[in-house]
Amino acid sequence: MRKSRSVPMAAAVAALAWQLVQASGAAAQDFGDARLGEAYAATVCAACHAVRAGETVSPRQRVATFDTIANTPGMTGTALAAWLQTSHREMPNLIIALADRDNLIAYIVSLKAR
Ligand code: HEC
Repeated sequence: MRKSRSVPMAAAVAALAWQLVQASGAAAQDFGDARLGEAYAATVCAACHAVRAGETVSPRQRVATFDTIANTPGMTGTALAAWLQTSHREMPNLIIALADRDNLIAYIVSLKAR
């Protein structure tokens, strides 16, 4: 009796675990929402960086534009994630929430020239 009930249960747990694995895999690859990232960049990052596609000069001297950052050879979402996890030399207190970070990465990666 007990045994016949626990088998479907185990199958359901396994299926749920599989879905979680799939979901986290997709999140790691796709990062966040580029539109939210753009809005965040426009409010937080734009003080120093040119954040829009096609902008060639940042408000602050010697600060890379997001266009340049996105099109740096070898720049990937993973590389950006690593960079944004370490502190900005000029702004050590910049703390970006994980969700915001993922949105920013999605946005910056979207600036890559196609
Ligand atoms: C107070 C000015 C300032 C703000 C605001 C700012 N940055 Fe920066 N950022 C800099 C400076 C200066 C550098 C280059 C010097 C350094 O490495 O710290 C830089 C470098 C970077 C780099 C590395 C560029 C490269 O070529 O390796 C990335 C990526 C970056 N910023 C992303 C962001 C994001 C995303 C935001 C908004 C959340 C942001 N920055 C906000 C000043 C700023």
